[in-house]
Amino acid sequence: MPRAEVESARTISSATRVAGELAVPGDKSIAHRALILAALAQGESWIHGLPEGEDVLATVACLRGLGANLQRSGRTTRIRAAGLSSFATPHGELDCENSGTTMRLLLGVLAGSAISATLDGDASLRRRPMDRVIEPLRTMGARIESRESRAPVFVMGTSLQGRRHTLAIPSAQVKSALLLAGLSASGPTTVVEATPTRDHTERLLRAMGTDVGATADGVVVRPSHQPLRPIELAIPGDISSAAFWIAAAALRPGWSVIVADVGLNPTRTAFLALLRSMGAHVEVEGSSSDIEPRGMVTVTGQRLRAIVLGPADVAAAIDEIPALLVLATQAAGVTTIDGAGELRVKESDRIAAMADGLRRMGAVVEERPDGVSVKGPTALHGASVESHGDHRVAMALAVAALVASSPTTIADADCVAVSYPNFFTQLQELTHE
Ligand code: S3P
Repeated sequence: MPRAEVESARTISSATRVAGELAVPGDKSIAHRALILAALAQGESWIHGLPEGEDVLATVACLRGLGANLQRSGRTTRIRAAGLSSFATPHGELDCENSGTTMRLLLGVLAGSAISATLDGDASLRRRPMDRVIEPLRTMGARIESRESRAPVFVMGTSLQGRRHTLAIPSAQVKSALLLAGLSASGPTTVVEATPTRDHTERLLRAMGTDVGATADGVVVRPSHQPLRPIELAIPGDISSAAFWIAAAALRPGWSVIVADVGLNPTRTAFLALLRSMGAHVEVEGSSSDIEPRGMVTVTGQRLRAIVLGPADVAAAIDEIPALLVLATQAAGVTTIDGAGELRVKESDRIAAMADGLRRMGAVVEERPDGVSVKGPTALHGASVESHGDHRVAMALAVAALVASSPTTIADADCVAVSYPNFFTQLQELTHE
């Protein structure tokens, strides 16, 4: 039965202590890209530690629908591929389920292919804007049709011309879609971003032999007449999943969590710096020799103070804002977040969803069209709250429940499976009731 048909509620009690060491699932952003790029390579790629979340499984299913040969055995995935020209027209639609990254990146890949496909998704993905990729791809010659730039989206592969794009909104998904389209375009494709976003696509492309320039002018990809080299990659833990444990430890002085082998790509670690400025003790031990830096993070709670976040902070910690809002309820002063309109077009409207859940638990939250403020510290109480079908909202509210005075019930909580299927098991292990 599809998950959406199962009304799964979870009740979380307050914790007397959060302590422990754990590993988190592999990084979702890296996994989508590694799978897609391996399918575009010529030869056999090996990916170790692919996460089991539904978003990544949606990318696996879409690539299989396009004819890719993916075999999973234990923690290892083998991909045998022969480049974009070997992609086959899928039978039926490609179901990207809840995953915006799957849909946007595949649109970039397929725009310059020799095949046609329709990409669709669940009700949440059908509400999310696709014009941000469709319009710049069309300027390269792409033939894409949709109703009001929402899924389902039909793409008819054609020859593309490289061009220079200036991103109107900071988005690694848009940047990546354009770079992937640039691989099969004639001439260079440049993406200029005013605010830097995660650079996993660029790192992997370089590791696979593509000429990707990072200049003051932006990221430039040139079409290569050589196919991408296959890759062997061990995916580090997802810092955006680790953020929930890191936030949990930071909630109370003396609580502590160690996250082993987590990705420490500098375009993804802003949350750790924000946490330090709120007063938490954060230690990072890492290596940066790999394609993707990785290491260990130890967080110990201290008294928290409010901080002010602007648009660049939001872009750098986009997936961690729900967890940060929970921390803000326990920080002294008013935490203000501005330039956060993008949060309204994620898997849910995350400003509204978090404001709703935290208010029901007694928090003082003020919503604005492109921002939110939380006044703390507040003693939270248990409540019935909603995930709004959004994995990160469900996990953030579960963390808030740890410091509520009575149990909190989260409706439709099993949506955590989108990125973190064993979240509630690990929550149990870390909390000592
Ligand atoms: C992602 C980029 C971010 C992020 C999303 C994953 C990616 O979205 O919110 O969860 O893997 O590129 P935007 O780039 O649209 O902000």
